[in-house]
Amino acid sequence: MVDLLLGLQWGDEGKGKIVDVLTKDYDIIARFQGGPNAGHTLEFDGIKHVLHTIPSGIFHKNAINVVGNGVVIDPVIFKKELDNLEKFDIDIISKLFISRKAHLILPTHRLLDAASEAAKGKAKIGSTLKGIGPTYMDKTGRNGMRVGDLEFENWKEKYRALADKHEAMIGFYNVDIQYDLTELEAEFYEGVATLKQLKFIDSEEYIFKAQDEGKKILAEGAQGSLLDIDFGTYPFVTSSNTTAAGACTGLGVAPNKIGRVLGIFKAYTTRVGSGPFPTELFDNDGETMGRVGNEFGATTGRPRRCGWLDLVALKYAVQINGVTELMMMKGDVLSGFKTLKLCTAYKYKGEEIQHLPYNIESENVTPVYKEMKGWAKDLTQLTKAEELPPALNDYIAFLEEQLNVPIKIVSVGPDRTQTIHR
Ligand code: GDP
Ligand code: IMO
Ligand code: MG
Repeated sequence: MVDLLLGLQWGDEGKGKIVDVLTKDYDIIARFQGGPNAGHTLEFDGIKHVLHTIPSGIFHKNAINVVGNGVVIDPVIFKKELDNLEKFDIDIISKLFISRKAHLILPTHRLLDAASEAAKGKAKIGSTLKGIGPTYMDKTGRNGMRVGDLEFENWKEKYRALADKHEAMIGFYNVDIQYDLTELEAEFYEGVATLKQLKFIDSEEYIFKAQDEGKKILAEGAQGSLLDIDFGTYPFVTSSNTTAAGACTGLGVAPNKIGRVLGIFKAYTTRVGSGPFPTELFDNDGETMGRVGNEFGATTGRPRRCGWLDLVALKYAVQINGVTELMMMKGDVLSGFKTLKLCTAYKYKGEEIQHLPYNIESENVTPVYKEMKGWAKDLTQLTKAEELPPALNDYIAFLEEQLNVPIKIVSVGPDRTQTIHR
């Protein structure tokens, strides 16, 4: 069986932290979609690590980490990630395997991303500009370059043909994008050389055999359900299936081999980049969440937009993913709020609805809030469920009742140790 860990909101729920916490119980941690648009933060022993492509189990000796076929890899960023790990005495070669079927992000994919965003002007997605959209477009358009291509001698010819085509495409956008391709290519080749030092595998076969041998596997999602290409707030989404089904296609795991589905959410909501966000706050409360929660993008450093927990959206994500257990992150950030609000319905065309309509732009939906009492207690030093303040227990109980799924972990700080199991 393969367990899944998925973000249920607009990303940055704390997936990296929880994967790191759970890795001791698993033999394999596998990423199945997304690419270096992800920024997964782990904190332990006073050090903060941010991973983009490498699975968050990499710091544990017991686990193998797999970058699955559904992931898109930028060799340049990948090399930087590996360089950052150098000082940590990790046997990367024997701990990190890459799927031959994963697609490569070329420097020109990044340029195309920038050109596309510039051409959209105000309607831009707010992409991380890591080339994600153009790379998945080449994948589904059947033009992409894959990791396995690097094992052939002529890979540079393939690269050249694709990069030349991209350059012509950049011209079509008719926007001013400055770049020095020679420089970008030198960096790319260097990245490819580093990537080629790793073991390339047929990851679907590897995962299949591992299951046969009874190994415990955890699939690590990137982004969040509301950024899913099909079910998210399209077009303000990423270009992959971030939901449970993405693990089937992104690793080659059959649907009947999925075990637990661990859904992770923040006790409030954040979003980075453009797009609708019904419970977004523009007042002191939102400012407090951002400041106390240190809500800045782990990949781009952009401030994250903050708002109350949106139960309508969360229910939708629980439903799409078939979540079996929930994990609530950043409860500590809400300490000190006298009153907490929870969006339990939307006002939509004069009616109250409890599902996500086609369009959740603020002119279409108005959140309906339930108010709950807050708690003053600092949670960051707590280690046991019994120590949680009564108002937080009420908040949790209400969520469990609404979502009909148990909340098994309450996270009270960024460190590995600040994790309460219930
Ligand atoms: P990911 O993309 O889902 O892995 O999440 P990010 O790493 O992008 O963002 C989560 C941020 O919240 C990181 O800075 C984490 O260190 C931090 N974090 C995770 N859990 C908690 C928590 O329970 N409390 C607080 N205060 N910070 C947390
Ligand atoms: P993790 O894994 C939060 C957002 C971007 C933008 C949209 C499209 O750290 O949770 P893309 O670069 O994919 O073309 O951007 O999606 N986005 C994320 N937001 N966390 C992420 O990943 C994200 N990855 C992409 O901000 O709005
Ligand atoms: Mg993140």
